[in-house]
Amino acid sequence: MKPVQMVETFRSVVQFRRFERDPVLRRLARAANVDDLRRIAKRRLPAGVFDYIDGAAEDERALDRNQADFEKLLFNPRVLRDVSNVDTSTNILGRSSPLPLVLAPTGFGRIADSQGELAVARSAAKAGVTYSLSTMATRSIEEVAAVNDGDKWFQVYVWKDKDRTEELLERAAAAGYSTIIITVDVPQLGRRERDVRRGFTLPPKIGLETIIDGVLHPSWTWDFINAEPIGFANVSGSDVGDGSSPVSLMAYINNQFDPALSWDEIGWFKERWKGPIVLKGIQCVDDARLAVDNGIDAIALSNHGGRQLDDSPSPITLLPSVVEAVGGQTEIIVDGGVRRGSDIVKAVSLGATACMIGRPYMYALGAGGERGVDHLLEMFADGMQRTMALVGAQAIDDLDPEVIGSA
Ligand code: GLV
Repeated sequence: MKPVQMVETFRSVVQFRRFERDPVLRRLARAANVDDLRRIAKRRLPAGVFDYIDGAAEDERALDRNQADFEKLLFNPRVLRDVSNVDTSTNILGRSSPLPLVLAPTGFGRIADSQGELAVARSAAKAGVTYSLSTMATRSIEEVAAVNDGDKWFQVYVWKDKDRTEELLERAAAAGYSTIIITVDVPQLGRRERDVRRGFTLPPKIGLETIIDGVLHPSWTWDFINAEPIGFANVSGSDVGDGSSPVSLMAYINNQFDPALSWDEIGWFKERWKGPIVLKGIQCVDDARLAVDNGIDAIALSNHGGRQLDDSPSPITLLPSVVEAVGGQTEIIVDGGVRRGSDIVKAVSLGATACMIGRPYMYALGAGGERGVDHLLEMFADGMQRTMALVGAQAIDDLDPEVIGSA
């Protein structure tokens, strides 16, 4: 073959990927799933920050099981069902949503990216997905409302000082949040042993180890030192601190949150919050029944991503018995171990209204800021649409237990 011909042949079969000049997009283009985003975040974030996000309580078995139990569920795919127009949209607490997905509340967004919760809230608004802001956020109720005109929920931790809780509810209502989430699985903070080993504080303390870590993660360090100092954006005061000086989260929460919270206080919230109320952290059928008896609009079956009680049941395993007991009387959200659109299809098929994700968007934030979260939400939307097509479901109403073949 003549050299000219060889070049022609070579050119006809080789196609180089267009070089992406933007380093963030170049990085994200290599992330095909949540695991890839996690790997990128692990490379970019200081080890202590990554471990705070990624870690869980004690032996982390609940964390592992949350995901493993989704993996155990197999589909029962149906074919030849005209899936040319799959519709993934649904209703969550009376509002339409393009996907059965809500972004869970997570604290300290700004340790992953200096925009923190603002980046996530902007991305959620673009995708039309509900965003939940945490009490422990590093951006305020009002700052988030200014960048997100979509559906927003506010998560309340219950402070020993009830006036503080009441003030948070008033601010959330004034800023247009539709719904509150009361997180009920933190009477004390779980023991996250990765944080214990590192002596991890929030915000991260600057010591020799963190300086070395910082040098090894220059882009994170540059972003962190160029932004205004991190603090709790919604709670401050001489008694609770403003979060600007390093604290062990365990010491802080165990000092400030009210471990005496009981079912008796649900009425207190109902008098003060006129919109829907979600109880997050329900972990057994009896408590799901009690939530219904207390007129709760939705429960989030959740073990806090395995961050609280190790060996608590995985939410997806708990779902069928909770649906049997209270399905139709309250909406049921599954939170924990959701890593793909196919996991949402599984949960909805078994009777959930929607799923929540926390860690996946924190990985995405650490991997690529707001664009990382955009990329993640596209992957969830796309994965859900494709899975529905492949199991033969045209719409959410077609998702029922028959879609799941075996467990
Ligand atoms: C806070 O709620 C955490 O899980 O770290």
